[in-house]
Amino acid sequence: MIKVMSVFGTRPEAIKMCPLVKRLEQDPEVKSIVCLTGQHREMLWQVIDIFGIRVRYNLDIMQPGQTLTTITTSILEKMEQILKKERPDIVLVHGDTTTSFAAALAAFYQQIPVGHVEAGLRTFDRYSPFPEEMNRCLTGRIAGLHFAPTENNKKNLENENITTGVYVTGNTVIDAFATTVRDDYEYKDEDLKKIDLTQKRLILMTAHRRENLGEPLEQICRAVKRIVVDFPDVAVIYPVHMNPAVRETAERILGGTDRIHLIKPLDVEDMHNLMARSYFVMTDSGGLQEEAPACGVPVLVLRTETERPEAAEAGTVKVVGVEEDSIYDHARRLLTDHTAYEQMAKAVNPYGDGHAGERIAGILREWWKES
Ligand code: UD1
Ligand code: UDP
Repeated sequence: MIKVMSVFGTRPEAIKMCPLVKRLEQDPEVKSIVCLTGQHREMLWQVIDIFGIRVRYNLDIMQPGQTLTTITTSILEKMEQILKKERPDIVLVHGDTTTSFAAALAAFYQQIPVGHVEAGLRTFDRYSPFPEEMNRCLTGRIAGLHFAPTENNKKNLENENITTGVYVTGNTVIDAFATTVRDDYEYKDEDLKKIDLTQKRLILMTAHRRENLGEPLEQICRAVKRIVVDFPDVAVIYPVHMNPAVRETAERILGGTDRIHLIKPLDVEDMHNLMARSYFVMTDSGGLQEEAPACGVPVLVLRTETERPEAAEAGTVKVVGVEEDSIYDHARRLLTDHTAYEQMAKAVNPYGDGHAGERIAGILREWWKES
């Protein structure tokens, strides 16, 4: 039996790790242990409660206004004891958060092999997204098994001379999506239920990235406000991240505006179903760039780069930057130019077929037999 410890701590990691953990839980050849870092709190449990996975450890490190240093050091200190006690055969981490990097480093310090889920994404700009680009590069350096969502991600690793233990598996986010979106879905969130979603063209918006805090987020919000003022048939729903720095800007610029709904973070089922019914999405999130294309919903990326070029190449995602005029112009085009909209509104699925979790579980079993 292989003992696998999955470590994660933020909302997106949980959404993408839970489908894999559920697979591992069902596998008779695997002993699965989940350790949450608790880098997020409410937003993390919103996911865990829906997927219903068993949690063995929760480091519960979240502090209001936490810094990258405190996240890293708390995880390193707290994981040491747990790893010494459990001695898993492999530690799985996901993606590019500070939880991912710190947990990988903690495992390395105990000489425990690391598997990196969602490996090989790169923007090639060490400060954007910050600190995620460096987190994933460093995690890739530590890991011995790399589960790359796409061939392009595998090539990025090859270019860094990471050539062994690399597998193209698809992204587990598509596994999650397959379990959450339903035609007859009814929303749970009370604020969402009060909004008439049938009369307007709906723009779903999220923004939270560290490098967008301050002036870029202000420009994003100003662009969104102009769009709503100029298009009376448009409504915006913005589930605002719990980071106080995000909330302050969003509420100051967009609060109290007719047809702009600032609501609390949605649970993943509400979110996925709302996304599937949106006219388009405006976001600086990574996960939304993978999910919206899968249901044919265009995405304007509120960033200057993306580590997910596949959907941009397929035409459903456009990187529009963080300047007010550029964001406004691109949104206006989607709202007024039907041909331009139709060109973007096609379902493409470069990120997987919904079986990534199964593939990763199989690779782990084989790796264990051979080692
Ligand atoms: C983190 C990740 C980012 C990921 C994002 C997903 C790092 C450095 N950043 O950024 O890669 O895209 O999660 O959302 O790993 N807060 C709460 N409750 C919660 C969650 C957050 O109150 O459930 C507040 C706290 O005040 C916290 C702050 O948000 O200090 C920021 O959280 P943090 O995890 O440091 O950064 P994120 O921007 O969420
Ligand atoms: N998400 C959610 N509720 C929300 C906002 C986002 O469930 O209110 C989901 C979204 O569908 C995606 C993931 O959270 O699966 C993206 O997380 P986030 O934007 O926090 O992080 P990123 O993907 O940028 O790392």
